[in-house]
Amino acid sequence: MANTTIITISCYLLATLLFLLPATASIHAQIKVTNNPADKLVAAINDNRTAHKSSSLYDNPGLACIALQYIKAYQGDCGAVGGPDAKKPPESQFAEVFAPSCGVKVSSLGPITGRFLGCETKYVHPPQAFSEILIRNQKSLDILYSKNHTQVGAAVTGTDGGSPYFWCVLFSSGKPNSTFTFEDGVAKISKPGCFSGANDECSGAYDWSPIRGTWLLATSVLVALGIALPL
Ligand SMILES: *[C@@H]1O[C@H](CO)[C@@H](O)[C@H](O)[C@H]1NC(C)=O
Ligand SMILES: *[C@@H]1O[C@H](CO)[C@@H](O)[C@H](O)[C@H]1NC(C)=O
Ligand SMILES: *[C@@H]1O[C@H](CO)[C@@H](O)[C@H](O)[C@H]1NC(C)=O
Repeated sequence: MANTTIITISCYLLATLLFLLPATASIHAQIKVTNNPADKLVAAINDNRTAHKSSSLYDNPGLACIALQYIKAYQGDCGAVGGPDAKKPPESQFAEVFAPSCGVKVSSLGPITGRFLGCETKYVHPPQAFSEILIRNQKSLDILYSKNHTQVGAAVTGTDGGSPYFWCVLFSSGKPNSTFTFEDGVAKISKPGCFSGANDECSGAYDWSPIRGTWLLATSVLVALGIALPL
């Protein structure tokens, strides 16, 4: 009986370790890879533009924060993003809601020269979000390579830290240093969600990993139970 208990315990420990080790490793890897998915998305956009001999765009945190508010206006409704029921927040929201929520001076709002918006139930990495969700046809390529843009801002959010995931990119022709500026000079970090340009290690990765961690933990407990049950 004592031996059986020891075997059970070591099996439990082994099972736990087997499942926890990869979980820990993947959480570490993920934080390194996605320290801010919105910044990675801007990097993918700029890499693609420069490869196409278009200019690299300034990553404006004020514009990016507004992109995050733009997503929030959809209140998690993926169906309102594309297709026949597509909706768009009214233009007036920029000055009345989005800018104040970000601490962006309303007087510094610049023209929006392009927009990409996508929503998926599954989380994908930023380069895939760029090539598979946001760039869909020639029209998106025309927007991407437009010479009218001088700056860009990107945001990504999962509703309550989970699915569906929204991706938003706003382009502007405003002067990088004097448009979408913050009232007090620093980015007001607005959570949940991630936006680009603010040198912010976004909690997005933390929002997603615990779900995986919990699932793996639950699995290891189940496996341990499976071993213990026949006794
Ligand atoms: C730029 O993005 C488009 C759309 O995803 C893709 O077809 C093209 O190959 C990319 N160009 C480069 C140089 O990566
Ligand atoms: C660039 O701006 C001009 C003038 O506002 C406009 O006519 C044109 O459609 C814009 N180009 C793109 C690709 O958006
Ligand atoms: C404008 O912004 C760039 C990039 O942040 C910075 O290097 C430059 O010094 C700024 N110029 C002015 C005039 O503030």
